[in-house]
Amino acid sequence: MVHLLKVCEETMLQFVLLVSVVAGVYLLLNKTLFRRSRCRGNLPMAGKTVVITGGNGGIGKATALGLARRGARVIMGCRNQSTADAAILEIQQETGSTDVVYRRLDLASLTSVRDFAENLLKTEPRIDLLINNAGLVGDGRTEDGFGIQFGVNHLGHFMLTVLLLDKLKESPAARVITVSSMAHRWGNVDFQVLSQTRDLGTGSYSWQFFAAYCNSKLCNVLFTRELSRRLRGTSVSCFCLHPGVIRTELARNISLWQKVIVEPISRLFFLSPEEGAQTTLHCALQEGLEELSGSYFCCCGEQEPAPHAKDDKAALRLWEESERFCGLA
Ligand SMILES: NC(=O)c1ccc[n+]([C@@H]2O[C@H](COP(=O)([O-])OP(=O)(O)OC[C@H]3O[C@@H](n4cnc5c(N)ncnc54)[C@H](OP(=O)(O)O)[C@@H]3O)[C@@H](O)[C@H]2O)c1
Ligand SMILES: *[C@@H]1O[C@H](CO)[C@@H](O)[C@H](O)[C@H]1NC(C)=O
Ligand SMILES: *[C@@H]1O[C@H](CO)[C@@H](O)[C@H](O)[C@H]1NC(C)=O
Repeated sequence: MVHLLKVCEETMLQFVLLVSVVAGVYLLLNKTLFRRSRCRGNLPMAGKTVVITGGNGGIGKATALGLARRGARVIMGCRNQSTADAAILEIQQETGSTDVVYRRLDLASLTSVRDFAENLLKTEPRIDLLINNAGLVGDGRTEDGFGIQFGVNHLGHFMLTVLLLDKLKESPAARVITVSSMAHRWGNVDFQVLSQTRDLGTGSYSWQFFAAYCNSKLCNVLFTRELSRRLRGTSVSCFCLHPGVIRTELARNISLWQKVIVEPISRLFFLSPEEGAQTTLHCALQEGLEELSGSYFCCCGEQEPAPHAKDDKAALRLWEESERFCGLA
């Protein structure tokens, strides 16, 4: 009897211990990796024009909605007109804005990027905010033969930004915001591989293309750093950010067994797209961020990026290689 009681007690103890460890881990994750934050910036948006890439879904749609709600004209650069039109309708219904428009942009084609930019330069009297938001995890090549993640996540946005820069400089206080990721911490840029393969990683399967994704997100941080250097003394500032770990379509192309692992964690922890838009909105709407131009943000605040993301030599070299790839040099 005494023995049985003791076993019972031990089991109870183990159970309580287990529950507290699980609760502790849950709380810890909620305060770190899955932390929520809210944009408190209030810069006026009426009369301003925003260009956002990939506004048809995920974080981009929530960002476009937030800016339309504050009265901005929003131009959605998307490759899929049907999903873009659906997103625009939803944004109009939710915000009452009638100034959200679709323009065709496929970042996996430098010709498309050029057409999109030229169209904007011809038709838009002003551009105040460029949000390089689109991105993908996946395998393949762009129209111009670049690795798809390098091509879309970095190079297409690089070219778009460079082509719109003079127009942005005409705005009294323009910003360029690039959605990077904490994944940049695991990235590296191997310039030899880049010149040989027009890609940031070799191979195509699972972790290899995840590595290439991390590398492309490191490019986003290096690009922002070099851009801020080139923009010193102008009215344009630039920022990059990690949006949080967000429930979106980003991982649509991962394998089934990976989905089986990710899905339950996603349901338990991942933030909503609206929560995922907060740091982008912070970079767009917070007053007085100009002196932090070139910085990396997370959870609506400045954060240190990885040390190798502050390598100015690599940032300059990436810029020059990218110019050459785009025929802008
Ligand atoms: N979700 C996360 O946890 C997370 C974490 C860190 C960083 N991020 C970053 O956040 C950004 C937004 O991603 P998300 O999570 O919102 O994913 P998402 O739901 O998949 O949205 C990605 C957007 O990019 C667009 N896009 C992809 N390829 C394109 C191309 N060639 N031309 C034009 N648009 C293209 C997609 O358009 P289609 O619908 O036509 O494909 C879609 O609108 C990405 O840069 C991503 O790297 C996300
Ligand atoms: C656009 O998105 C819809 C809905 O996801 C899809 O059925 C269609 O194939 C896409 N079109 C293109 C051109 O990618
Ligand atoms: C996603 O997977 C489909 C089917 O396997 C493939 O056709 C497509 O090219 C992939 N897209 C990317 C971006 O990897």
